[in-house]
Amino acid sequence: MVKRVRSDSGPFSVQKHNHVCVKLGLSIFLVGLAVRLLLWDSFGVSSAVVETPPPLDEKKAESPVSSSPDLKDSDSYDFQGINQTQFSKNVRWVSWNVPTTRQEKCDLFVGEWVQDLSGPVYTNESCHVIEPHQNCMMNGRPDTEYLYWRWSPRGCELPKFNPNKFLKLMRNKWMSFIGDSISRNQVQSLLCFLSKVEPAVETYHDKEYRSKIWKFRSHNFTLSVIWTPFLVKAAIFEDMNGVTSSEIQLYLDKLDHWTYQYKNFDYVVIGGGKWFLKTAIYHENSTVTGCHYCPGKNLTELGFDYAYRKVLQEVFKFFTNSNHKATVLFRTTTPDHFENGEWFSGGYCNRTVPFKEGQIHMIDVDSIMRGIELEEFEKAVSRSQKVVNLKLLDTTLLSLLRPDGHPGPYRKFQPFAKDKNAKVQNDCLHWCLPGPIDSWNDIIMQMLVIA
Ligand SMILES: *[C@@H]1O[C@H](CO)[C@@H](O)[C@H](O)[C@H]1NC(C)=O
Ligand SMILES: *[C@@H]1O[C@H](CO)[C@@H](O)[C@H](O)[C@H]1NC(C)=O
Ligand SMILES: *[C@@H]1O[C@H](CO)[C@@H](O)[C@H](O)[C@H]1NC(C)=O
Ligand SMILES: *[C@@H]1O[C@H](CO)[C@@H](O)[C@H](O)[C@H]1NC(C)=O
Ligand SMILES: *[C@@H]1O[C@H](CO)[C@@H](O)[C@H](O)[C@H]1NC(C)=O
Ligand SMILES: *[C@@H]1O[C@H](CO)[C@@H](O)[C@H](O)[C@H]1NC(C)=O
Repeated sequence: MVKRVRSDSGPFSVQKHNHVCVKLGLSIFLVGLAVRLLLWDSFGVSSAVVETPPPLDEKKAESPVSSSPDLKDSDSYDFQGINQTQFSKNVRWVSWNVPTTRQEKCDLFVGEWVQDLSGPVYTNESCHVIEPHQNCMMNGRPDTEYLYWRWSPRGCELPKFNPNKFLKLMRNKWMSFIGDSISRNQVQSLLCFLSKVEPAVETYHDKEYRSKIWKFRSHNFTLSVIWTPFLVKAAIFEDMNGVTSSEIQLYLDKLDHWTYQYKNFDYVVIGGGKWFLKTAIYHENSTVTGCHYCPGKNLTELGFDYAYRKVLQEVFKFFTNSNHKATVLFRTTTPDHFENGEWFSGGYCNRTVPFKEGQIHMIDVDSIMRGIELEEFEKAVSRSQKVVNLKLLDTTLLSLLRPDGHPGPYRKFQPFAKDKNAKVQNDCLHWCLPGPIDSWNDIIMQMLVIA
């Protein structure tokens, strides 16, 4: 089974593909064209489904990386237990065309990565809060080209993050990031930006260091991150090594604790994603209603998409029903870039430059997730009484273009110091710091300034 298809060449190139593929490509193109003509989605992703996977190199990883002993850290929970092999039969090509009716002067989420020789505004030397697993510089990643790009939205300039301006804007405010460790990844980037002006003082962390609060005293700005990978209540049974000992019990209609804190927040950046791909038993209205990927359990397979939609509906319902005034940025799903395997089967991500527009496509799961996100977001906005200011932080596509931005083997300190051919667990999901995820904060800054 082909897990995913990544190609250096454009979608319609023949290289590596055979004739079936060319025909497929052509039909994709035609279907894509039809879809595009009939139905624009908000950000110009037209999708066409390929029923049979193009027969690309089906190389099995020669020696799968053993997982458990190497995975004693919370970030690895983010891929532990995820098996995308079961879904990824379909591939959707991504088109960046924006319909003329929606063509605003500036769409921050459509554009390209352009070379920027000025480089990142912080480094592993100037920022002391980069977690080891994302500190690619410290860990010895040899190439540096990935640091010299900036996101250039079509039709406008995206200024670099301005920490002074940001802190001024945030005086007496509280901003909270709510989600999984990708949210923590983004918070670190923000902390690195802000620490150029004022160091953050950590005033709280939970037992596992997954939820934290920081204060910027001279601006009376509070920043926090809340770890809640499903956004709803979940019973997660993982031992110290991140090995699942029992299925996750997920309560699709019971939002997690973050809701109690919401009234404190002026700004919220919230997102979900990959955790929904794990095996889970679904509960609704205090009864088990089904599951995702639980063979042998005699339960109805409801699919991760069912759960994700249901949860997002609950999340948006909460925001639109609340009488608390806040700005909520909903971040869309973040793609991973494992190639030739998954996290457990030797997948890697060793590219050193971004993709170009024609080179990318979305795998089925990302596409399904983003589709649900856009739909539920639109529904929420249309019924919102405008007490909450809901905004979409649609970082999926720009992130999809950055296969070069992940730690890969450099999630560990000097992984090849002792053995050049060491088999190392790769991380192709989180982002190096500094790295592409910094642009997410550039965009937030811009959204808040424009607002
Ligand atoms: C992933 O899923 C595939 C297909 O269902 C299965 O054959 C494989 O054993 C699974 N691998 C892991 C590590 O769960
Ligand atoms: C930062 O990274 C460089 C390599 O890019 C390394 O030589 C240096 O030791 C690192 N410093 C810290 C404090 O991690
Ligand atoms: C600091 O900000 C909080 C809101 O986040 C506000 O309640 C408090 O009064 C502010 N303190 C000062 C001294 O302005
Ligand atoms: C939840 O379950 C109770 C009792 O079984 C039932 O009366 C109620 O209608 C259910 N509510 C929903 C929303 O399904
Ligand atoms: C599976 O569940 C159905 C309905 O709940 C039940 O009728 C059936 O006996 C169960 N089968 C097994 C093998 O437990
Ligand atoms: C990435 O790794 C693969 C497999 O080890 C190798 O064939 C390829 O040349 C590498 N690419 C780069 C850019 O290092």
